[in-house]
Amino acid sequence: MASRASPLCPLLFLCTLTAAWGFPFRPSLDLDVTPRITVFSNGLLGCRRFSGAALNYSTLLLEDEAGVLYIGARGAVFAVDTGDISAPGNNMTIEWEASPEQKRQCMSKGKDNQTQCYNHIRFLQRYNETHLYVCGTNAFRPLCAYIDVEHFRLSSGFEEGREKCPYDPAKGYTGLLIDGEMYTASQYEFRSSPDIRRNIPYPIVKTEEAPTRWLLEADFVGSALVRESINSSIGDDDKIYFFFTEKSQEPMPYFSQTRVARVARVCKGDWGGQRTLQRKWTSFLKARLVCSIPDYDFHLNVLHSVFVVEGRDPQSTVFYGVFGLEWKNVKASAVCRYSIMDVQKAFEGPYVENPDSPQRWAEYTGKVPEPRPGSCITNQLRARGFNSSFDLPDNVLNFARRHPLVFQQVRPLGERPLLFKRSVDYTRIAVHRVSALDGVQYDMLFIGTDEGWLHKAVEVKGQVHIIEELQLYEEPQPVDSMVISQTQRSIYVGSPSGVLQLPLSSCGRYASCFDCIFARDPFCAWDGTGCVEVASVANRSGLTQDVMNGNTGCETSAGEDMAAHRTRSVAEGDDVLLQCEQRSNLATPQWTLDGRQLEGYGLDSGYRVGTDGLLVIGARPEQSGRYRCFAVENGVRVLVASYTVWVRPDLPPLPPTNPPPVAMTTTTRSPTTMTRSPTTMTMRLPTTMATTTAATSMAPPPTSSPTEQPLPSPPSPPAPLPAGPEFQTYRNMEAMYISLVVILGGMCLVLTVVLLYMAFCVQGQRPGRKCSLQGGGARPERKRSSHMELKTISSHCNGRREDAPDGHLQIVPGEGQASPNKDSPPPAPPLPLPPPLPSSEYVNGLSATLPSVLRKMNGNSYMLLRQADPETASPLYYSFTEELNRILEKRKHNQLVTKPDESSV
Ligand SMILES: *[C@@H]1O[C@H](CO)[C@@H](O)[C@H](O)[C@H]1NC(C)=O
Ligand SMILES: *[C@@H]1O[C@H](CO)[C@@H](O)[C@H](O)[C@H]1NC(C)=O
Ligand SMILES: *[C@@H]1O[C@H](CO)[C@@H](O)[C@H](O)[C@H]1NC(C)=O
Ligand SMILES: *[C@@H]1O[C@H](CO)[C@@H](O)[C@H](O)[C@H]1NC(C)=O
Repeated sequence: MASRASPLCPLLFLCTLTAAWGFPFRPSLDLDVTPRITVFSNGLLGCRRFSGAALNYSTLLLEDEAGVLYIGARGAVFAVDTGDISAPGNNMTIEWEASPEQKRQCMSKGKDNQTQCYNHIRFLQRYNETHLYVCGTNAFRPLCAYIDVEHFRLSSGFEEGREKCPYDPAKGYTGLLIDGEMYTASQYEFRSSPDIRRNIPYPIVKTEEAPTRWLLEADFVGSALVRESINSSIGDDDKIYFFFTEKSQEPMPYFSQTRVARVARVCKGDWGGQRTLQRKWTSFLKARLVCSIPDYDFHLNVLHSVFVVEGRDPQSTVFYGVFGLEWKNVKASAVCRYSIMDVQKAFEGPYVENPDSPQRWAEYTGKVPEPRPGSCITNQLRARGFNSSFDLPDNVLNFARRHPLVFQQVRPLGERPLLFKRSVDYTRIAVHRVSALDGVQYDMLFIGTDEGWLHKAVEVKGQVHIIEELQLYEEPQPVDSMVISQTQRSIYVGSPSGVLQLPLSSCGRYASCFDCIFARDPFCAWDGTGCVEVASVANRSGLTQDVMNGNTGCETSAGEDMAAHRTRSVAEGDDVLLQCEQRSNLATPQWTLDGRQLEGYGLDSGYRVGTDGLLVIGARPEQSGRYRCFAVENGVRVLVASYTVWVRPDLPPLPPTNPPPVAMTTTTRSPTTMTRSPTTMTMRLPTTMATTTAATSMAPPPTSSPTEQPLPSPPSPPAPLPAGPEFQTYRNMEAMYISLVVILGGMCLVLTVVLLYMAFCVQGQRPGRKCSLQGGGARPERKRSSHMELKTISSHCNGRREDAPDGHLQIVPGEGQASPNKDSPPPAPPLPLPPPLPSSEYVNGLSATLPSVLRKMNGNSYMLLRQADPETASPLYYSFTEELNRILEKRKHNQLVTKPDESSV
């Protein structure tokens, strides 16, 4: 019976893969970029917030010259002053709620009365000089209307919105109003097929559904007009590009991947065919957008947002896409950049074989009719008498109808993501092109996350440097929309709770010349006394900036004056903390004593270094001297703090504390001993502290942060390990990897036994039934529950049939809402193939069932990986202020030595 083996193989495979993923260390993980500065919401500078009585500020329309930001929310449209969106009295409101009767009908249709039975504004664009056009979901009966801008009110009369605006406020949707023509793309109603259409003017032009479906469960994220007719030598047409994710037609490397990102386009002058493709696009073509990590063949297939950046001419248009994973419980994001020329090239290349043919996925190699199907009308076609899409011959249109997809994939510029980020889900991107002082144009990326953070980054030579990560809201909430105002030099961010205005730069945050240079913010430069906004300075000759490398220009500046100098006098044998905060996540601390660098703060050196300072353990008189703390960033060493330390030898003799870490009173020594263990030092896991404090049983155990998971079992007690400079090598990581592999191996063994037992048990008690892990490509037919369920072994084996009606062991991945949406994400792979770069934030609340144990293991292995990653904020250093304070406190009481006095000079 095959069923016995089937659950085991994938699990063993998973175990092997999990181990392989973490060991050895693979280089491409270096792509993961650490934001230089982390700013929490209480530290935002120049931030302004707007929120009315409404919720869901999801649609923004910026009219920069007029200085007005229009905001579409739930049940209201606002107009606010872009100079200060929070200014009271400067905003206007149109209340537009669904009628009570409409809400009742919505609820009777079984829709969610908390979210869906409202009028969510989804479309808000300029119609003509005097009016805006607006569409709302209107409690599942969409309506559109004109807004008279001058009086800011709805013009009389609503228009049917059924085929212009989706019914569901959360459904993917994009729309454009260009030259009085309205283009929209969505799956408007639950039962209808997704569609790209021109609604205005009449007659409507749409996508084809039979015999070939042009769109398969498409989820739209964006659209853009590219005016390719301008200066076109071939008399080309303007085109509208649509960006979406849809069900894949092509074979995927992993069976749990079922969706792909696409770009499609139609020509603006397309009016459909005469007999064939009547009122259907004759110029529709789509291509796959690839965003993958080359060394892994690891694909991010779900497109979350697109931003199109226009160049000097249409051909130099580029667009940025933010991609995520299909699996809901693993977070990772990537930003890829594409050239519109590559999209055009793909559309001119071979087609994919008609999907109804036996070779569903293959390059079409047969004869292609003339003129080329899916083309716009160009001069060449006009010369041949094809003046418009109506003139195209039937054989061409028939071919176009059956071959919407082109074979060539659109690959990102540079063949790899500009940015890859683990444990983050990016939701929106906006890009601002700016000229820096070096005359180079840089693209600044503003990327919003699902938890309300904004990453501000600059792209330099194909790499992304994240200048800062800003927490926009205390309450985590997704960034729903973003627009950038050139004139206000502000970014506006819409989210469920409101709209926020932030200046594009906060140069004042950078206190020194080096800080200003390291930031690499194209908006900021050092003027000799402060970090200033370039745009605010008329004479720029005296400004210093280095966006390209982020390290030159400050050599002569008086950095040393900035550093605090202190004197400390301590008793011999005391532990001393010399504080030195590293403000930048990219800086590493370096200490000198009387000008000599303290080499590798090893086990016996008597020193420990953390992100917040240097710990001198059991100070000895020869450790007196002048200590200086430097931050090393971008290869530059900057003085942060200096101390003169006197160790007074005139105190009650204590046993020499160096080298063997013994003596002192047991209570004070034991934590130091523990924390000196190299294994624990390399990790920032709270387990370390918990263990040590438990040993002293004096201080309360620290609360562990939700993102940090304790190790399965801390390697205890530290074996004699190579001390000294090797400390900083990866040797310790190796030990950790080995223990990790051992742990994983043990888990696998246990799982195997459990599954064997299960298989035998079911086979023994219920011949004819089988235990199988269902998931991956096989989509469960039944309605999904909102939790990961695992029918337990006992429910199989003790005959509680109602728990497992079909006798299968099922993993039913969760879905946010219980609506049976067809485009819900496919089941999260119980067998991540390859393990999707595992996430440390394991937050979707799975109960401790079998697969989640596995994933948690996965998460832990990631934790270990992350500790070793030199890119992520210096793993060898961790904060021990608290620990030290405890030691000092205790020492004070135990030994009654004179309190170390500190005096500032
Ligand atoms: C929504 O429906 C639930 C259950 O039908 C009901 O208890 C609740 O009061 C309703 N809420 C609103 C705002 O109507
Ligand atoms: C703009 O469109 C509205 C609605 O169709 C119309 O009433 C108004 O006259 C138009 N304004 C101009 C200047 O054409
Ligand atoms: C609207 O806001 C509510 C509450 O913040 C949130 O739960 C809901 O998902 C939002 N709906 C949409 C369509 O964004
Ligand atoms: C196309 O347009 C040209 C000039 O406008 C006209 O002479 C010609 O007859 C048209 N051809 C067709 C097939 O309509």
